[in-house]
Amino acid sequence: MKKLDLKGFSLGETKIEHGLVLAPMAGATDYAFREVCRACGAELTVSEMISAKALCYEQKCKKKNTELSRTAPLAAVREEELPMSVQLFGGEPSFMAEAAGLIESGDYFGNKSTAKPTAIDINMGCPVHKVVNNGEGSALMKDPSLAARIVRAVCDRVNLPVTVKMRLGWDRESINAPELAKMVEQSGAAMICVHGRTRAQMYEGKADYSIIAEVKKAVKIPVVGNGDIYTAEDALRMYEITDCDGIAIGRGALGNPWIFGEIRALTSGEIYAYPSLREKLNTALGQAYRMAEEKGEYIASREARKHVSWYIKGVSGAAAARHRINSAETLEDVKSIVEEIVAECKN
Ligand SMILES: Cc1cc2nc3c(=O)[nH]c(=O)nc-3n(C[C@H](O)[C@H](O)[C@H](O)COP(=O)(O)O)c2cc1C
Repeated sequence: MKKLDLKGFSLGETKIEHGLVLAPMAGATDYAFREVCRACGAELTVSEMISAKALCYEQKCKKKNTELSRTAPLAAVREEELPMSVQLFGGEPSFMAEAAGLIESGDYFGNKSTAKPTAIDINMGCPVHKVVNNGEGSALMKDPSLAARIVRAVCDRVNLPVTVKMRLGWDRESINAPELAKMVEQSGAAMICVHGRTRAQMYEGKADYSIIAEVKKAVKIPVVGNGDIYTAEDALRMYEITDCDGIAIGRGALGNPWIFGEIRALTSGEIYAYPSLREKLNTALGQAYRMAEEKGEYIASREARKHVSWYIKGVSGAAAARHRINSAETLEDVKSIVEEIVAECKN
């Protein structure tokens, strides 16, 4: 296969060598999964999306029980996690700027960070109804001047680099990613990640890389291509069509964090050796235990259900175990089911 010549990019002083990014995924890219992806070769990770308004409102609970803090823990950045961005969503420049300022300062209720993030990322891609109905996420693509004002307000408030994650546009009839990209660049954005779908598509259909190529031509700041990268060949295709500076992988990393290693190997022309099923499931188990340290066993064993299901996707003979994992109540349950899967499956 051809060598992949990803250029990478810088965010402030931080070099993201090949531009390999773990795309933000609410409910999936928590601390434990980000750690696994980093170990497999992801060079920049992003927090789950965080409501700017919720973070600001939590300040009103100050001095009360820190257990009340639900949003702040999502924004935690540990020194060992860098490079990592914190992603904010919101539709009001003032709240977005205030939340970004809190994150940069670390001076906020419930803060568990030991480091500042590498960048603040602004969400202009979330398609979920309750988010867009508030004028947040991908709704910002319908109001480019507001989107640009948000970027300007956040850039004016913080010294950290500010990045933007967008879609192609609201729908096929209103594709405006190249124009919006220029506007956010002029407003101070340091990098743009483009998911090659419209909001109307949600996660359906195929990502269109040709418009990501237009975004790349429209701006001077780095552009990261995103959408439907499940193999190193897909990464190569994204790069060849778009000339992007980096690649963000979302669903393709769920249960397969080794995709980052596979793509990295392609940048040096090597053949990547995937781990065995046992090694993969040991990773899944380690991730579940790490999750428990962060969130407690009750939540971790339930969240581990979906992660283990992703790790065993496509494994023949694991159908019954896939069913059983959904009843795991404790880490011990997760562990014994994972061991059964390893014993049952020969591959
Ligand atoms: C479960 C899930 C949660 C997501 N959460 C976020 C999020 O919090 N912020 C964001 O910008 N995008 C979010 N996305 C979109 C992904 O970052 C990515 O743009 C999209 O899945 C397309 O990339 P992929 O084909 O590599 O998955 C989410 C996607 C999924 C599947």
